[in-house]
Amino acid sequence: MTPQSCAAVVVGAGPAGIAVMGNLLELGLNKIAWVDPSFDGGRVNRKYREVPSNTKVLFFQAFATGTQPFRRIIRSTPLPNAFSTLMKLDQDQTCSLHYAADMCRALTDGLLKMDAVVQVRGEVVSADLDDTTSQPQWTVHIRRQGTSNDQTATSIITPRLILCTGSDPTTPSIPIDADKLSRLDLDTVLQPSTLYHTLPRTEPLTIAVVGGSHSAVLALMNLYELARATHPQLRIKWFTRHALRYAEYRNDEHGAWILRDNTGLKGQAAEFAWAQLEDDKLPQSDAGRFIQKIPISESDEMDLYAEHLPQCTHIVHAIGFTRSPLPTLTIAGDRTKPIQDQLQWDSSVGGFLLPCGKDTAMVVPGLHGAGIAFPERVRDPFGNVEWAVGFFKFMKFLRRVCPMWV
Ligand SMILES: Cc1cc2nc3c(=O)[nH]c(=O)nc-3n(C[C@H](O)[C@H](O)[C@H](O)COP(=O)(O)OP(=O)(O)OC[C@H]3O[C@@H](n4cnc5c(N)ncnc54)[C@H](O)[C@@H]3O)c2cc1C
Ligand SMILES: NC(=O)c1ccc[n+]([C@@H]2O[C@H](COP(=O)([O-])OP(=O)(O)OC[C@H]3O[C@@H](n4cnc5c(N)ncnc54)[C@H](OP(=O)(O)O)[C@@H]3O)[C@@H](O)[C@H]2O)c1
Repeated sequence: MTPQSCAAVVVGAGPAGIAVMGNLLELGLNKIAWVDPSFDGGRVNRKYREVPSNTKVLFFQAFATGTQPFRRIIRSTPLPNAFSTLMKLDQDQTCSLHYAADMCRALTDGLLKMDAVVQVRGEVVSADLDDTTSQPQWTVHIRRQGTSNDQTATSIITPRLILCTGSDPTTPSIPIDADKLSRLDLDTVLQPSTLYHTLPRTEPLTIAVVGGSHSAVLALMNLYELARATHPQLRIKWFTRHALRYAEYRNDEHGAWILRDNTGLKGQAAEFAWAQLEDDKLPQSDAGRFIQKIPISESDEMDLYAEHLPQCTHIVHAIGFTRSPLPTLTIAGDRTKPIQDQLQWDSSVGGFLLPCGKDTAMVVPGLHGAGIAFPERVRDPFGNVEWAVGFFKFMKFLRRVCPMWV
């Protein structure tokens, strides 16, 4: 079957894929293939609906109205809807992520109705670049949802392939060999309704939480709530390698800006940490009745794990996120040299470089990325460098780079 031709193939329908679609449509691309197994708003909807946001409602609102096609969707969606619900919330406060997830689903539904959008429910498994043509040409192979054979695969030819494939919680191996220690999934711990049913209520439980940023503090908060309310035999050992760090709202000669905008605690996690987890509060705080803090460093962590983990029943790693596996990417059909694991992300243009010799790299034509897997590298007024991860940050980045892609 001859592959159909599209102006772009966007892989992934989380917040980043949605934002890419809005921007490319606004720039006038008129046939865009959009590939995802479920088109349900991505990970925030599937896993984190119960998580409190660490950004203010106004940033979700700014995301929802960030492109002209999105504004058209909002105008044509019957009231009441996810956008009107979001608008009624206090814009200056944080909210439960289910509001943001519903907004993403409503934008997705609206985008999928547009004539310029070709919906492909499935997974991009591989893509090959023909670099002999004047314009880059990618042949993208997609396995349709729920199938495993080639007959139900489909292919699309495109000059632009955009990876918005997201990230999964980082899960290193359990540090010691302990028979009784089982892994608790971070996604379960971030979902109190599931966590409640996952952990037995009538047995002694000791849960090791590793990490010190947003996910770890929310894990501690959710486990503490269970210990306090329904699981009286639950105790927590908290392994962290640095002091708690908070976002700091500043207004100075640089204008209004946020120190540690992407790495510091914000919202409910910051409030809980500040009130109960700080070293001078934990011994007297209510959370301190259940949580034991164990400071670790790279030099002593193995000794401390060996000492404490044998007393634990579970361990949850809350130490960040790792890019989800990318499709197999090749050049000129050379399947002996897949390139996806060698790519270097260049957020200045939203593209990729491929090392090709000592100190040299080539731009991979027509290949782009966005989202938590491929965020923008930003520098604050003090010179600190961070990766900008968040709904509105994706939108801001894409408004800058998408015009270069077309
Ligand atoms: C716990 C948590 C809380 C967060 N809270 C906030 C917050 O309060 N405010 C904020 O602004 N940001 C927040 N973020 C950051 C960020 O907005 C989210 O991580 C967001 O989900 C990232 O969107 P994404 O589109 O990059 O990835 P995802 O939402 O993970 O979407 C990726 C999509 O790509 C699909 N996919 C992957 N591979 C393929 C393939 N080969 N073919 C087809 N489809 C594929 C996946 O199925 C998925 O649907 C939070 C992040 C986490 C982890
Ligand atoms: N809405 C919310 O409240 C919420 C909740 C969770 C996540 N998020 C978002 O999701 C993204 C990821 O957040 P995250 O908290 O999961 O991860 P993160 O911000 O990447 O932080 C990971 C933390 O784990 C520590 N760490 C890494 N490896 C470790 C190890 N081997 N042992 C002990 N500690 C280790 C890191 O310490 P070092 O700095 O020393 O490396 C860092 O403090 C962020 O954008 C965040 O804003 C938001």
